[in-house]
Amino acid sequence: MPTDTPEGERLQKVLARAGIGSRRACDDLIAAGRVSVDGVVAEPGTRVDPETQRIAVDGTPVTTRTDIVYYLLNKPMRVVTTADDPEGRRTVMDLVPDEPRVFPVGRLDYDTEGLLILTNDGDLAQLLTHPKHGVDKTYLAEVTGSPSDAIVRTLAAGVTLDDGPTAPARVRVVQRSGGRTALELTIHEGRNRQVRRMCEAVGHPVRRLVRTRIGPLRDDRLRPGKWRALTNAEVRKLYASTGEADLASGT
Ligand code: URA
Repeated sequence: MPTDTPEGERLQKVLARAGIGSRRACDDLIAAGRVSVDGVVAEPGTRVDPETQRIAVDGTPVTTRTDIVYYLLNKPMRVVTTADDPEGRRTVMDLVPDEPRVFPVGRLDYDTEGLLILTNDGDLAQLLTHPKHGVDKTYLAEVTGSPSDAIVRTLAAGVTLDDGPTAPARVRVVQRSGGRTALELTIHEGRNRQVRRMCEAVGHPVRRLVRTRIGPLRDDRLRPGKWRALTNAEVRKLYASTGEADLASGT
């Protein structure tokens, strides 16, 4: 497929609109051979169709399609992460706009709170949920009791669950008070109820669980039940965090 679309828009204008930089800076990126269109290094003067062509800078896709949306939701407790719940409970879909139709990337348990991405970008969803590329996710877990340092080390080294041992995690004690402990755990596996099962396995069941980070994404100001659109820079960072940006850009 030819990369140049004579009736299309100038590539530097499309890049600038996507927040990559000024048109001048985007010109420089193109001249340096750092921009590809449908997997082919773009020449200065290239014109593109931003709705159909895949544009990447340094192999990381640039979001130029206006029909692709990315939401960051702060999921509250007692909301199901599915499109449709047979039991009629509130779902995450009830908390974001109906159109265009999006789907959740991965899932949080009914009682887990915190950050969840919803999008209609199947490539990104696949990269983020694939075990090979899975990005780190951080959780704040309030557990019962006061785990010893040895138990914290065990959680970090890996505990054996009924579906096998967990991969090494980063675990730290945030606060101990009144018979409860706040632990911060960073894992990159996405096994079912993993954090709850890990803490249960070492004798400290989770009382409250909040996801506070997905790869490069954090947001301390987003209130439970609220969503916001990701910025172009955040989408680029997410793609880059999967370490397989080239896969998604087709290069
Ligand atoms: N681990 C859990 O136990 N629950 C979640 O919702 C996410 C990670």
